[in-house]
Amino acid sequence: MKIAIIGTGYVGLVTGACLAYKGHQVTCVDKREGIVATINNMESPIYEPGLEGILQQVVSSGSLKATGDTKAAVEEAAVTIIAVGTPLGEGGIDLGQVKQAAQEIGAALKGKEEYHVVCVKSTVVPTTTDTVVKGILEQFSGKQSGEFGLAMNPEFLREGNAVADFMLPDRIVIGADDASSLEVMKRVYAGFEVPMVATNLRTAEMIKYTANALLATLISYANEIAGFCEATGDVDVQDVFAAVVLDRRLTPRIGEEIICPEVLSYLQAGCGYGGSCFPKDLQALEAYAREKGCNPRLVSATIATNAEQAERIVQRLEGALGSLEGKKTTVLGLAFKPGTDDIRDSPALKIIRGLLAKGAKVSATDPFALERAKALGLQGVTYTEDYEAALRGAEAVLLVTPWRQYVEIPAEKYVLLMAHPLVVDCRRALDRGRLEGAGAIYIGVGLT
Ligand code: UGA
Repeated sequence: MKIAIIGTGYVGLVTGACLAYKGHQVTCVDKREGIVATINNMESPIYEPGLEGILQQVVSSGSLKATGDTKAAVEEAAVTIIAVGTPLGEGGIDLGQVKQAAQEIGAALKGKEEYHVVCVKSTVVPTTTDTVVKGILEQFSGKQSGEFGLAMNPEFLREGNAVADFMLPDRIVIGADDASSLEVMKRVYAGFEVPMVATNLRTAEMIKYTANALLATLISYANEIAGFCEATGDVDVQDVFAAVVLDRRLTPRIGEEIICPEVLSYLQAGCGYGGSCFPKDLQALEAYAREKGCNPRLVSATIATNAEQAERIVQRLEGALGSLEGKKTTVLGLAFKPGTDDIRDSPALKIIRGLLAKGAKVSATDPFALERAKALGLQGVTYTEDYEAALRGAEAVLLVTPWRQYVEIPAEKYVLLMAHPLVVDCRRALDRGRLEGAGAIYIGVGLT
């Protein structure tokens, strides 16, 4: 099947590469010439494990190509997938790129005789596809929906795991405007033997937000309880949740074996959620709910708890160290989570800004995200690839992104390299006993 994909962010490019790998003929469209050249050169413009290997195969075999020409790509395809960004704008989701894509696709459909399905993969608030996108497509193509098909197919890819998530999805959700659109979309996913949820456009849109909001809510719930534990004293949030999840409704048993669902890892107290999805999606959902006259109490609380978490960590550090003015601090990890170089809405940046606001000097390190962080031009931060150099002479270190190489730093190194070995475990990834045994001072989220 010939498929055009508009947008080559991590969703568009992973989708394109994987669908090409599954046997489709894919054209990825991007306005940025440099990105088009990079893809055609079989390189991945983003860091995503496994993606470059697949790109090499599908570009060299001719199954995937990139272009800046939307019209040509749409004209030769049977399906066009919109996978452009939907950032947060003033007071809600910014649909600028989706609208632009819909206009160009609509214009390309004008002279096209064959039936064509337009599928929205970008995360958009409910009713976007059947009102905004449909309206623009009808206006610019001069056709009525039905003459072209319309679908909404949310993605559930995690950065750093996106290729595996695409190839082995938990479910495929297809919202379709009519039976013909659904049939075409089923052919797109013909090679996938996983539960398929066929529904309407609005439900598909709502499923995506509900899924992300649920996971973000678990994180904020854990962080809120962590705050209660810190205020109480002599209660460790880890012990609390370890016992809570032993409820068989959370950890079912098969014989003797305790099944520990992956979702429970979102009940881990830490420094709050970040990345390109949860922060913007929660805020977009909140704004959407308000616009509809609803009161998004839980969603708003999730956002508020998350916003405070980095601040609370900096305050605890200040409580332990006294004024941070002129103090050298080290931040281990800049990416919003391990396995990616993405620093968008990373808790590390919030913590760094909090430290800088208190007059601290910051030395930061990350295995993949240094260049992106440097580009932010934060005054008062030095960057180094070498964590030992980052630790040398510091009066406090904060483990923010639990990259394995940081989690495995021997406890003695902190004592040896730092001027004052105060270790703040923002992810509860470190061994308190070992650190204290080696002479370090330990502060962990969710315990005092
Ligand atoms: C998230 C969702 O997990 C995907 O299902 C969804 O498709 C994607 O957003 C999206 O909307 O595009 P992603 O942001 O890549 O994916 O990453 P996650 O691994 O879910 O991490 C999000 C936040 O949760 C991070 O701040 C991370 O540190 C935190 N997290 C993640 C946890 O606290 N615990 C975990 O076990 C995993």
